[in-house]
Amino acid sequence: MRMVDLIEKKKNGVNLSKNEIEFIIGGYTEGSIPDYQMSAFLMSVYFQDMTDEEITYLTLAMANSGDMIDLSSIHGIKVDKHSTGGVGDTTTIVLAPLVASVGVPVAKMSGRGLGHTGGTIDKLEAIPDFQVEIPNERFIQLVNETKVAVTGQSGDLAPADKKMYALRDVTATVDSIPLIASSIMSKKIASGADAIVLDVTTGEGAFMKNLEDAKRLAQTMVSIGNLAGRKTMAVISDMSQPLGNAVGNTLEIIEAIETLKGRGPKDLKEMVYVLGSQMVVLAGKAASLDEAKILLEDALASGKALEKFREMITNQGGDAAVIDDYSRFGNAKFVIDLPAKASGYVHHIHAENVGIAAMLLGAGRQTKEDSIDYNVGVVLHKKVGEAVATGESLVTIYANTEPIDEVKEMLYQNIAIGDKAVEPVLIRGIITE
Ligand code: URA
Ligand code: CA
Repeated sequence: MRMVDLIEKKKNGVNLSKNEIEFIIGGYTEGSIPDYQMSAFLMSVYFQDMTDEEITYLTLAMANSGDMIDLSSIHGIKVDKHSTGGVGDTTTIVLAPLVASVGVPVAKMSGRGLGHTGGTIDKLEAIPDFQVEIPNERFIQLVNETKVAVTGQSGDLAPADKKMYALRDVTATVDSIPLIASSIMSKKIASGADAIVLDVTTGEGAFMKNLEDAKRLAQTMVSIGNLAGRKTMAVISDMSQPLGNAVGNTLEIIEAIETLKGRGPKDLKEMVYVLGSQMVVLAGKAASLDEAKILLEDALASGKALEKFREMITNQGGDAAVIDDYSRFGNAKFVIDLPAKASGYVHHIHAENVGIAAMLLGAGRQTKEDSIDYNVGVVLHKKVGEAVATGESLVTIYANTEPIDEVKEMLYQNIAIGDKAVEPVLIRGIITE
């Protein structure tokens, strides 16, 4: 087999076989296929697309390019949850203890973040002393004994994807649905879950800016997951405004704790119930979504979910007393309220730009080498659809550095107030097969 012939084939829109795809991924991972041939191939995929079958072969070949995590010694059906990314998305930190508290094993491997705020792992590190590097045996033991552990990605997970993603980044081939779908699903499959719940976000704060693309991506990933023998479903959710109120690492942990205490923001709670119910059903702990939701509501109302989070923090070396005393978190030096300049209704909050504002404060990384300031960020007090009066606080900025005038201006420009009430829609679709 020669790579040039396979590029030619894909260029002409001919479908590739399993063998051919395995040849490409194997060769590229070991280095016998050079970047320039892979670049040409990726560009052909960009223009010619792939069938669900080709994408499945591609995904499995990428998953098999490195370690395949074996979670079979964990009892029960392991359900993983993955979001395609958003701003202020605190969902996983609420979901992990919540679904664990109703008996679903949560063996969560999460990444660090590049962008607006840290990833789930970075956010958890905002809890004093919390350890995200856990040896494999301990990780499995914790999930078996307590149903929940969250760890950083260990080992050599889907190295083909790592190499391809870096190449796509510099060859203008990131925004290709078969390539995004295989990239995400290869890592999910390699990390060993039996079933996968996807949150495919859409809107200004998301990878997929429009609903049609988000639907196609969701549909593709659900097909691949199911063809690969992992029960997979996707929720399509709106990310045109940030999720919840807090954007920033410590601020989001506090938001997660508040949500586990039953006081969280409405949209975050909705997201948690929608995704959580799907996870509980896929794990076989409830026969219907309604039944699952009742289980989750009970776990939240009784404090069982909050206690599970306390147990999880303690098991991973963290200071669980933060749950009752937020002053144990680090503080920001400057806390500044931005008063509304007009009365009316918030009709738009530009998620991506609010995320960038948080990043400029230090909440996220602009490059892989940057360090994160856990204690900075923003808290929105008015979400889309809510009424606001002149002088009322729109948002609080938590900062450690001056000047922050640029951030203030940015926030003012990206929170629009109009005179008509609008009703935001969070869940934009559900795809189950
Ligand atoms: N996230 C990934 O992991 N891969 C992509 O290609 C895009 C988003
Ligand atoms: Ca949030």
